[in-house]
Amino acid sequence: MYGISGYSNGYHQDQQQQHSSEEKRGGGRRRRGGRRSRHRHDFGVSDHHHQQQHYQNDEKQEQKSPPSCTDFDMAYFHSYAHVGIHEEMIKDRVRTDTYRAAIMEHQSFIEGKVVMDVGCGTGILSIFCAQAGAKRVYAVDASDIALQANEVVKANNLAEKIIVLHGRVEDVEIDEEVDVIISEWMGYMLLYESMLGSVITARDRWLKHGGLILPSTATLYMAPITHPDRYNDSIEFWRNVYGIDMSAMLQLAKQCAFEEPCVETITGENVLTWPHVVKHVDCYTIQHDELESVSTRYKFQSMMRAPLHGFAFWFDVEFSGPANSPTNNPIPSLLIGTSNNNHMDGVQKKKRANPNEALVLSTAPEDPPTHWQQTLIYFYDPIDVEQDQIIEGSLTLSQSKENRRFMNIHLEYSSGGRSYVKESVMR
Ligand SMILES: C[S@@+](CC[C@H](N)C(=O)[O-])C[C@H]1O[C@@H](n2cnc3c(N)ncnc32)[C@H](O)[C@@H]1O
Repeated sequence: MYGISGYSNGYHQDQQQQHSSEEKRGGGRRRRGGRRSRHRHDFGVSDHHHQQQHYQNDEKQEQKSPPSCTDFDMAYFHSYAHVGIHEEMIKDRVRTDTYRAAIMEHQSFIEGKVVMDVGCGTGILSIFCAQAGAKRVYAVDASDIALQANEVVKANNLAEKIIVLHGRVEDVEIDEEVDVIISEWMGYMLLYESMLGSVITARDRWLKHGGLILPSTATLYMAPITHPDRYNDSIEFWRNVYGIDMSAMLQLAKQCAFEEPCVETITGENVLTWPHVVKHVDCYTIQHDELESVSTRYKFQSMMRAPLHGFAFWFDVEFSGPANSPTNNPIPSLLIGTSNNNHMDGVQKKKRANPNEALVLSTAPEDPPTHWQQTLIYFYDPIDVEQDQIIEGSLTLSQSKENRRFMNIHLEYSSGGRSYVKESVMR
């Protein structure tokens, strides 16, 4: 199911029902971002441009060539051809309502303007932009879901405004610059799927100087967690099964449950202290090479005595206009008050400070749940920590060389005088 060419996201009808129980058991998997693809079809203006490898004009030819479309990418796009993944995203009201609110809040930047929707899926964000008065929307998607998007656009009498391009944003051609780029690119743990690179490509190819990018910033956080219920349910359970001592299963149970990152929902009560900023992304300035590998050092002081079971990761994104964009305001509003460091990575976030009142889509444990949930990296064995005990170490997230959509995770942690290393792959 999870082999390299398998890429199953559980969207086959028979698998879908298994999600909630699998997630509780720790076998739950990412539901977006993988799998296979077949043929492509073009719509509208893309007919004669589709899959062209050349940039739009001479200036842009200075840019590095886009990555070629690998079998892994084809599998990834194919996974997005399934209705289930789009249903789940659209039914995530926190996500979809926040995007719609952001579009409406930035109506003055969109009305009468040209928009590109990078990875349009069913076309929902493109349609919101058309409703906000966009003059023209280029809705780009490499998955066969673009065929459906085109039908949805036609059924809503928006074919004059929304041009669906079926192809990779790296390959399609359009004949004009755009005023606005919108994209829902965030994967689990923010960077899984590596779709942000495609937004960078679109920005560098087509965004006008001073143009708007929604969302404008993104921040990945981590924090130590305690989760006795989860540990007992998956591990301690084996100590006494119908009165039988099955402790011989313990090692295997730990390996199977905790070898890979788990996508699960926790609450604020599981979190032992304030989160640490792993990576802050400014969508106006981020470069491809910054995404190949992200490293941080962290130091936490537990606010309570508890068994430490691992770390949780979550992210938020902020929707700011160009005037408030970090390009003009180097301190993202979300983090004002926590540091005067322009490099936000490594900052510990004590509380949300948002003087710009920018709209935020948060996947934090204390906020309403989303389909991203949180990503948990569990230790094989818990560490008992006292109140105020230091938990410190380092983390490196890197794109897998084999498949850049997979993420290698190298975690070093120490507490109470002992040090540990955990390597895992999110695939
Ligand atoms: C997370 S979904 C978002 C879909 C839709 N925008 C929404 O909000 O419901 C991301 C979409 O981007 C598409 N995508 C990812 N990378 C792409 C690329 N490089 N070029 C074109 N489409 C891409 C995927 O096929 C998928 O349909």
